Amino acid sequence: MNTKDSNQDEFEQYRLELAQAVDVVDKNLQAEKENRKYIDFSSYPLEQLKKEVRRVVQEVTGIHEMAEIELSVPPPHIPGDFALGGFGLAKQLRENPNVLANKIAKGIGEDQTIFIEKASVVGAFVNLEVRQKIFYQNILANIFELGDHYGESNVNAGLVALIDYSAPNIAKPLGVGHLRSTIIGQALAKIYHATGYSVIRDNHLGDWGTQFGSLIYAYQQWGDEKKVAENPIKELKNLYVQFHYFAEEHPEVKDKARELFARLEKKDPKLVALWKRFRDLSIKDFERIYHRLGIKFDTNIGESYFVEQADRIVDEYLAKGLARKDEASAAVVVDQMGGIPSFLLRKQDGSSLYLTRDLATLRFRIKTFQPDVILYVVGNEQSLNFQQLFELSRRAGYLPDNVTAKHIGFGMVLRDGKKMSTRQGTVIELEDLMSQSVQKSKEILLQKNPDLDPGELEKISEIVGIGAIVYNDLHQSRMQNISFDWEKMLDFESKSAVYLQYSYVRINSMLKKFVEVYGQINFNNLAKQLFSFTNRSEFDLARKLALFPEAVLRAQQANSPHLICVYLEELSQLFNAFYGEISILKTEDKQLRESRLALSNGVALVIKKGLALLSIAVPEKM
Ligand code: ARG
Repeated sequence: MNTKDSNQDEFEQYRLELAQAVDVVDKNLQAEKENRKYIDFSSYPLEQLKKEVRRVVQEVTGIHEMAEIELSVPPPHIPGDFALGGFGLAKQLRENPNVLANKIAKGIGEDQTIFIEKASVVGAFVNLEVRQKIFYQNILANIFELGDHYGESNVNAGLVALIDYSAPNIAKPLGVGHLRSTIIGQALAKIYHATGYSVIRDNHLGDWGTQFGSLIYAYQQWGDEKKVAENPIKELKNLYVQFHYFAEEHPEVKDKARELFARLEKKDPKLVALWKRFRDLSIKDFERIYHRLGIKFDTNIGESYFVEQADRIVDEYLAKGLARKDEASAAVVVDQMGGIPSFLLRKQDGSSLYLTRDLATLRFRIKTFQPDVILYVVGNEQSLNFQQLFELSRRAGYLPDNVTAKHIGFGMVLRDGKKMSTRQGTVIELEDLMSQSVQKSKEILLQKNPDLDPGELEKISEIVGIGAIVYNDLHQSRMQNISFDWEKMLDFESKSAVYLQYSYVRINSMLKKFVEVYGQINFNNLAKQLFSFTNRSEFDLARKLALFPEAVLRAQQANSPHLICVYLEELSQLFNAFYGEISILKTEDKQLRESRLALSNGVALVIKKGLALLSIAVPEKM
């Protein structure tokens, strides 16, 4: 075989690898369709309660096509366990909210309900007092019946979501900018799955573009094969930077780089071979980080795969009259559409663009996977790109109305209150950030517990250090900018991953003590046990546990993992109140003692599950 053929095989080989990955995804989707067992959302105690309320509201108002009933937790000074706000309904019926609330309360009073003891009215609110014993029993039994599936549901069963996240650019280090996409995308993938979606995790690698012309030029001029093999990302980045410095003095090399890229686009075998090497080495490097974050992608189809299709799509847009050739430059342009300013679809020299490769990718995804939803987890600065992408795809009929395409934007990562800049050397590399976090965690853990065995300390500080970074990103609305404040990120007292991990560990060690004092207890039997409680703080805690499935669903519907963080922080606070007030180990009555243990166990289970949905692990001790 001559080199030309073997190199062409290389691109073919890459196409083949991708085709195989696509096959696997298809098979997995199929298998999931046939085998996955879902938890019926309406079987959760809170949903059953809502159903009772809904039934009465329907009877009283005569409205049968009604949106979901929303129950909130009233503030402490209001008697009642849940509240129903009647403003929306009153508006719809053009009725006085207080009058309507009274009608509903009366209706509830006259109805045969399993969970509701009493309804009363304050203003526009109907306050519900539930039959606490029954409700409490149902909540705890439900949690132990479902175990680590508690919180999952079938709301979106049968639907497919493709999530485009991480998407770093090869031959460059994974920076903290892509870290946000990686963390948010991963959490969304888990949360979507928990609500019933089948999820395709697609890493749309930035593996094409003019920068590869520059990189290849630099490599051919100054590259050292051995160095690149040893430390690929670092060396490639250095070469890239070197190119830019050199180009400042010798602008003519920019043309050379453009020429090289144009040759790469035409699949010049020698250049393809180099490019493929950069690609493979980069993926290997990224995978080290993904592994630490517990992430596995289903596909790594990069932009490079879509170059030819992008070209064809541009021709189709021309034919459909959705784009036009610019007389003067021969570039292809789309004129202003609605609020979107005019933009380019093909460059003068004929090479493809980020946007056109995205157009082809979108079309490919829809044809190949038939997703119901496609999420693009990419920084806010690309919002115009996605408006163009969606609008143009819809107009051409490539994005059908029944498919939702959504840009999941997010704020910037700041350092000392400012945006980071490669030029000023203020960019933090992800692996440095991770080792810093792990190192700091280690110091803090050692302070708290100097007797920790060194091997154990390694493991725990990895979990705590990585968890701190992930949680720091997710615990506020994603639209906000984030920064790294180690004191807050590793604060054992509040609003951090370690605070939640520590609550979990504390419950665990309490369980151990319990067993030492009272002997083994069979948690598998818990679902069948009768539970009791005496204090309000116990009931409040159980009620909070009952709200978890709804919190997961809301996080999915709003594409807001931070809602789960808010939930978990509130849960931990309630647990601490309960734990400060009641000594489980000193509870005399056996049934009450075991009920309290079960309640704590339920909290531990939900903390672990909630963190797992954010892709954060928990250590078993600390
Ligand atoms: N690689 C791109 C960047 O770093 C992000 C790609 C996001 N996904 C997409 N389909 N455009 O800016």
